[in-house]
Amino acid sequence: MYMQKLRPRRMRISAGVRDMVRETELSVKDFVYPIFVVPGEHVREEIPSMPGCYHLSVDNAVKLAQEIYELGIPSVEVFGLPEYKDEIGSSAWDMKSPVQRAIAAIKEAVPELVIVGDVCLCQYTSHGHCGKLCGHYVDNDETLKLLQKVAVSQAKAGADIIAPSDMMDGRVAAIREALDGDGFMNVSIMSYAVKYASGYYGPFRDAADSAPQFGDRKQYQMDPANVQEALKEVDLDVAEGADIIMVKPALAYLDVVRRVRDHIHHPVAVYNVSGEYAMVKAAAQNGWIDEKRIVLETLTGMKRAGADIIITYHAIEAAKWMAEA
Ligand code: PBG
Ligand code: ZN
Repeated sequence: MYMQKLRPRRMRISAGVRDMVRETELSVKDFVYPIFVVPGEHVREEIPSMPGCYHLSVDNAVKLAQEIYELGIPSVEVFGLPEYKDEIGSSAWDMKSPVQRAIAAIKEAVPELVIVGDVCLCQYTSHGHCGKLCGHYVDNDETLKLLQKVAVSQAKAGADIIAPSDMMDGRVAAIREALDGDGFMNVSIMSYAVKYASGYYGPFRDAADSAPQFGDRKQYQMDPANVQEALKEVDLDVAEGADIIMVKPALAYLDVVRRVRDHIHHPVAVYNVSGEYAMVKAAAQNGWIDEKRIVLETLTGMKRAGADIIITYHAIEAAKWMAEA
């Protein structure tokens, strides 16, 4: 009898009521769109493992940045493929490399767009690891010196936010010190604080030509089984001066996102990574899922889990779908 009076369905009875009681609202302002810049001019080549994403030369990256801004997306993250690779990844801090040129050109053309620079070495080293090698070991403290150079070069180019994705210990403090030392005290750090050694990065490594030539990244990226360790990483990066804390990947780690959100007062970002994107695209291309519904549902799930910022390759399509809705 009592149960008859308790009718949660009343709050779902119409679109108007559902709108009134909705707890999580996805916004285009939550998004960061990652772009891949390559050498050359007039290049716009679709990335086979990431349909709808492109390798862009600087001129086309600027055009896309303009479109992104017009859609209301506040930010892009710039990744690059360099003209040359060597043992220490020195093209990562070359001001003439595609990333530095793209950052400067986008900043000039679309100054309001927030530019995030990805700081790592794996796209730039001949061996594909995220730092300087000592034998087969990635030398932590030697790598920090190189990451400092990369961060400063991107800040010089015009990056608003520096996002280190290498997972070396102490890199947030090292980068903060280098940025401040060069007068970039207002450039923020978005730390990939909780980055797991994940199979979901596969398509990105094809796109960025950054797969390790031997071994794997398990000595620096985290074990997918751990969450206490995630909170330890977060505490360290907060103490070192990170402004935004990221969890990556997103989908298989939403419990981690919630734990991190409840643990700190900093903005929390998630990276909806390439493998998560590719799975959705493949299923959609086969007609097995309704892509629009699935993408908006997934992104809403990330927000509900506690993400304030969502880095996603679906940003452009999602922004268009949300404008229709
Ligand atoms: C490089 C880097 C990776 C991603 C972002 N920066 C891959 C990796 O660690 O191998 C993954 C992004 C994605 O899969 O979308 N440090
Ligand atoms: Zn890397």
